[in-house]
Amino acid sequence: MMDVTKIRQDFPIYQKHPNLKYLDSAASALKVQTVVDAIDRYYTTLGVNVHRGAYDLAYEATKLYEDARSTVAAFIGASPDEIIFTRGTTSSLNMVANAYRDILKPGDEIITTELEHHSSILPWMKVAQKTGAKLIYIPLTVEGRITVESFEKVLSKRTRVVVITHVSNAMGYLTPAAEIIRLAHQHQAVVVLDGAQAVPHMSVDVKALDADYYAFSGHKMFGPSGVGVLYGKVKLLNTLEPFEFGGEMVDQVFKDSFTYKDAPLRFEAGTPVISGAIGLAAAIDYIRSIGYEKMHEHTHRLHQYTLLKLKSLPGITLYNPTADQAIITFNVDGIHPHDIATMLDQDQVNVRAGHHCAQLVNQFLGVTATLRASFQIYNSIEDCDAFIQAVIVARDFFQAF
Ligand SMILES: Cc1ncc(COP(=O)(O)O)c(C=O)c1O
Repeated sequence: MMDVTKIRQDFPIYQKHPNLKYLDSAASALKVQTVVDAIDRYYTTLGVNVHRGAYDLAYEATKLYEDARSTVAAFIGASPDEIIFTRGTTSSLNMVANAYRDILKPGDEIITTELEHHSSILPWMKVAQKTGAKLIYIPLTVEGRITVESFEKVLSKRTRVVVITHVSNAMGYLTPAAEIIRLAHQHQAVVVLDGAQAVPHMSVDVKALDADYYAFSGHKMFGPSGVGVLYGKVKLLNTLEPFEFGGEMVDQVFKDSFTYKDAPLRFEAGTPVISGAIGLAAAIDYIRSIGYEKMHEHTHRLHQYTLLKLKSLPGITLYNPTADQAIITFNVDGIHPHDIATMLDQDQVNVRAGHHCAQLVNQFLGVTATLRASFQIYNSIEDCDAFIQAVIVARDFFQAF
């Protein structure tokens, strides 16, 4: 078992809020001190732009920024020219979808799922509306899972793009991505994976997966907000139209036309998110120093412990008892999740309430909102006990009316 007291020393928030029971890491993970330090160091010792200046400070800042790109690349098994720094998963996914407005034709099919986060599905809904392509949904199992068999049912010679979550933020299910990608490639379709919930918890190798595009965010993996990553196979990236135009993405400019640089710079118009990239690299170093195996062991134990307790409580509906990742989605019967979440907060138990930016999941479950508890390495068994106790108190309080 992980030494949580020691881990918490890495997360400065616990100095100000020692009694915090933060169970909302799927929304945003707490920030590690080394990330804050790396960002602080950049601003206090450099703070200048990258790729532009012909002076030492600019070279140093550019080196830090490009080193961050190499760190991200090595972390997910890519090469640096395949890593684009973005504002987050949302902008990564929009960037890819936007490029396919010029590629898809009426009658082409985009396969996706009801498990998607809005940032994964809405950009492709717009692409479908603009191009006349069709969105096709993989039928989910009764539990709400994506299976290879159900994917095969909708895969066809018209499939051009598959857009799919690697791990569902609302249900914690792991998608059988490698097999889906293998089958999609047999039909010459490209696969876009939303890895926002995967990378904070598991080792991802984009080359082993053979993913065409892969997106994730810094803030869900102890890193800064405002930075994310789009991985793309370089041969694909260099065929895509950029989303934004401006400084540093351009090669030559004439009075009525211009040419682009190759990836990744063609997708990083303007001053990039320098401090964010540096902070993200520090977050990756931190994850490496702990190791995914130990992280998983710890969160899995907390997950199973809490599930067992929650299952034994009357008046609770659990929606994902077999989740692969440490995410518990549930409701207290007859009580609105926002009421429960607000009451839990009085005991400094922080959970998410609502549709979790995945309204199609709620429609699938037949509810308007749910509660979600999600776990990370700084959570303790005491956090789980406090959470269960707070749920009991809230349930009994509201059910008394
Ligand atoms: C599965 C999934 N995809 C995409 C996103 C969007 O990430 P961001 O808000 O960092 O752009 C999230 C965030 O909640 C998510 O959980």
